[in-house]
Amino acid sequence: MATVLITGCNRGIGLELCRQYHARGDKVIGVCRNSNSDLDALGIRAIDNVDISTDEGVARMAVALADVAIDIVVNNAGILRSDTLDTVDFDEMLEQYRVNTMGPLRIALALKGNLGDGAKFGIVSSRVGSVEDNSSGNNYGYRCSKAAANMVGMNLRHDLAAKGVAVVLLHPGLVATEMTGGRGVSPEESARGLIARMDELTMEASGSFWHAEGYTLPW
Ligand SMILES: NC(=O)c1ccc[n+]([C@@H]2O[C@H](COP(=O)([O-])OP(=O)(O)OC[C@H]3O[C@@H](n4cnc5c(N)ncnc54)[C@H](OP(=O)(O)O)[C@@H]3O)[C@@H](O)[C@H]2O)c1
Repeated sequence: MATVLITGCNRGIGLELCRQYHARGDKVIGVCRNSNSDLDALGIRAIDNVDISTDEGVARMAVALADVAIDIVVNNAGILRSDTLDTVDFDEMLEQYRVNTMGPLRIALALKGNLGDGAKFGIVSSRVGSVEDNSSGNNYGYRCSKAAANMVGMNLRHDLAAKGVAVVLLHPGLVATEMTGGRGVSPEESARGLIARMDELTMEASGSFWHAEGYTLPW
């Protein structure tokens, strides 16, 4: 039984990750801004009032987890503020950096003392953060924030290696959640793939960028 921490646990992919890890017997700690009845119904430990874009929120989580050893972290919380070349909004771009890029780094800093040899640290990034895979333009803020999240992950791969912590960047697929207006595969299918990828992660594979379906994505 592993102790698993999931951010953005109250809906979408994060809620489903909690459900599936819990169902197979892992000890799940969900982290969110606001709990709700869907999350309550899972019966897992939830830490709410944690905005991952703020020092205070993440510090609150860290205090609640003092001395708790964590085996798996999935940094899933994220936001999309769509834009085009004509509608780029720099405040929204920064907002996406604060959540999508700096959020996982804040979580890593807050929890690195909870992660021991053999622990795993996943960041739910996106293939739209891939420079090479970009064939369509648009979404400046989201794409840049996820490309930078990939760099955070690769840096953590090096900086957490001495502790024996493996790091992975994950693309969940196009998933039917609020973020996509319900387009894509089910959160159940995506979460199944993400959990399989976390399961197969080793130190040798640390620093990989994987699709939930199991193949490697280009940077
Ligand atoms: N859906 C897709 O097709 C897709 C594709 C590629 C990548 N992704 C990535 O997958 C992850 C999950 O996306 P999703 O589709 O499940 O989206 P979603 O349904 O919109 O859920 C987003 C989750 O992130 C949380 N969150 C947002 N800002 C936060 C903050 N500042 N502090 C703490 N939590 C925050 C939300 O909590 P609140 O309820 O408090 O807002 C919610 O739990 C994201 O990182 C997203 O970028 C999704």
